[in-house]
Amino acid sequence: MAEISKVGILGAGLMGHGIAQVTAEAGYEVVVREVSDDKLAQGIGKIEKQLARAVEKGKAEQADADAARGRIQGTVHYRDLADCDLVVEAITEDLGLKLEMWREVDQIVKPDAYLATNTSSLPVIDQAASTGRPERFLGLHFFNPAQVMKLLEVVRCVTTSDEALAVGVDYGKKLGKLTVQTKDKAGFIVNRLLVPYTLDAIRAYEEGVGSIAEIDAAMKAGAGHPMGPLALADFVGLDTLGAICDVLFDEFRERRFAKPPTLRKMLAAGWYGRKSGTGFYDYSGEEPTPNPGL
Ligand SMILES: NC(=O)c1ccc[n+]([C@@H]2O[C@H](COP(=O)([O-])OP(=O)(O)OC[C@H]3O[C@@H](n4cnc5c(N)ncnc54)[C@H](O)[C@@H]3O)[C@@H](O)[C@H]2O)c1
Repeated sequence: MAEISKVGILGAGLMGHGIAQVTAEAGYEVVVREVSDDKLAQGIGKIEKQLARAVEKGKAEQADADAARGRIQGTVHYRDLADCDLVVEAITEDLGLKLEMWREVDQIVKPDAYLATNTSSLPVIDQAASTGRPERFLGLHFFNPAQVMKLLEVVRCVTTSDEALAVGVDYGKKLGKLTVQTKDKAGFIVNRLLVPYTLDAIRAYEEGVGSIAEIDAAMKAGAGHPMGPLALADFVGLDTLGAICDVLFDEFRERRFAKPPTLRKMLAAGWYGRKSGTGFYDYSGEEPTPNPGL
């Protein structure tokens, strides 16, 4: 199997910074590309904070945290990805943007490198087919936060070779993840089940079944979930959740994937959840409190 030693990560947002961190911690050289110096500094800053926190909590040695940080190079140029063996994209959930990005990356990155998408909902084949190496393309779907969540869905699309799949599985195992292979069906396993559940929680709130706090408390205490569905929606990012619903609804045309009016209005208001400070909860105080605007 091909030896992977340098990994390129596109995007240093919620997912990209976490994937970059776990990849560097596993001993790979990492190049992270963002669209601007500001965005890059924000993403690298989050990695540094989390490495420092791991040392404080006694979960990592200072020398290992320093070594992991030392393996991460940040850039705003695609050209710095040229000699990567594997490139994982974690940019905005928008097929147009992803295809535009692959047009650049596919030309620059060495021809025998593997390419992967961390998309939550878009069929992998649409991105694979836009590159000149669809057999070297696969889905590597991490979960938020990538530093903590154990699962990695490894997605084989119709063009993915056995070798590319094996590279993805091996990379996941080196990161200490549990790898589960899935078919290239929009939403894969987890989001196909989790997104309708989250949307149903929003509909239950709209119908007055319970308040935001009651719905979350009920699912934590009654179903043993570590986080209620509305807090989870804020955590995922309501913009990302909205984009996922649109893709799943377009693909399957089923009501269970349709965006509830409350979610649509929240997005129009610029309430993206935790990342924007407002969602189903308000994050401006010490503890999140239910959003009084809803
Ligand atoms: N949020 C989640 O819980 C979650 C979980 C698994 C997978 N995903 C998927 O991961 C991807 C990213 O989601 P996110 O939540 O991290 O979004 P995000 O909005 O937090 O981050 C996206 C980042 O990509 C950057 N970006 C945009 N175009 C770029 C380009 N051409 N090159 C480099 N960077 C670029 C943006 O500046 C932004 O910082 C999406 O495909 C999403 O579906 C998200």
